[in-house]
Amino acid sequence: MTLDISFVPAAHPRSDAELAEILANPGFGTHFTDHMLTVEWTPEQGWHDARVTAYGPLSLDPATAVLHYAQEIFEGLKAYRHDDGSIWTFRPEENAKRMVGSSHRLALPVLEPDDFVQAVDELVKVDQRWVPEAGSEKSLYLRPFMIATEAFLGVRPSEHVTFMVIASPAGAYFKGGIKPLTLWLTEEYTRAGRGGMGAAKTGGNYASSLVAQQEAIAQGCDQVVFLDAAEGKYVEELGGMNMYFVYADGHIVTPATGTILEGITRSAIIELAGKAGHQVEERRFSIDEWREGVASGEISEVFACGTAAVITPVGTLKWEGGEVQGSTEAGPLTMEIRQALVDIQYGRADDTFGWMHQV
Ligand code: PLP
Ligand code: COI
Repeated sequence: MTLDISFVPAAHPRSDAELAEILANPGFGTHFTDHMLTVEWTPEQGWHDARVTAYGPLSLDPATAVLHYAQEIFEGLKAYRHDDGSIWTFRPEENAKRMVGSSHRLALPVLEPDDFVQAVDELVKVDQRWVPEAGSEKSLYLRPFMIATEAFLGVRPSEHVTFMVIASPAGAYFKGGIKPLTLWLTEEYTRAGRGGMGAAKTGGNYASSLVAQQEAIAQGCDQVVFLDAAEGKYVEELGGMNMYFVYADGHIVTPATGTILEGITRSAIIELAGKAGHQVEERRFSIDEWREGVASGEISEVFACGTAAVITPVGTLKWEGGEVQGSTEAGPLTMEIRQALVDIQYGRADDTFGWMHQV
């Protein structure tokens, strides 16, 4: 807790009536709270000038490095209201540590995990009326991010960096509710290669996923599945979610390749499934194992997971010239793990893993 954070309240915060209307139907990522948090970094001063101010546009020089070379990283986590009104985030130290990893890869300065958690807590405290009511599956989605803000066109790490946190009330990420997704297997595009940025949470990975996601939509699918870049054989992840495969004999596999973004939801599921008596394998998992496993019934459930999407069942997998049809209903283990996870997040079950952090 080393940041000295100043506070200039918004002159025109949203009225209670406007806020109630937004929280009734928040959608995902379209409404933002009254404030934002900003901290600056330079080599001479380190992290300084931490402040919470009114949410609003940034003024950037057109030569600002992030606009040209995408030196940027971000995180995503949520704040949940419990029945007694208290507000909690889920494993924020894990997001903080992952951001440290991303900052190494993108040659950005390290924001110490304690400072990350302090910054997130501060914005949530200031905008606490934006955390949706208990008893819903709504939450306040938090988006910490770090950008290269030096105005300079040479290609080298920026000597002025800005860390910010913004917050956005969130309902379901997928409008259709909890129903199985149809996935498109791209054989043309990959997301990350050896030595690349796959394990970092950086905007470039998402930029490069968009054309493949467009292709998925054009094929009538919801999301795109990426394979490994070297052999085009092993399942990596979706554009913004990790994958899980449940076998009829009860064991579970989640891909591990070194080039995926290892999710905090993914790691929580490893613990939850283990506690429920399932053997969980983290290993390379080939696309043929998926196709054949679902076709033969050996694989009984497939699901995807992430902070925004929580746990979402997967049904059919399509590719150029073929498909394998999975279940049209969410599987029982998918829903059991999902329930166990959200019950901890919303304070309805004992937090035996010590995952929740009170703001
Ligand atoms: N993979 C990608 C590419 C993502 O964007 C996300 C979302 O954050 C995940 C996986 C899941 O990570 P987490 O569970 O930490 O949200
Ligand atoms: C998240 O789940 O937090 C993400 O960053 C995924 C993004 C596609 C919304």
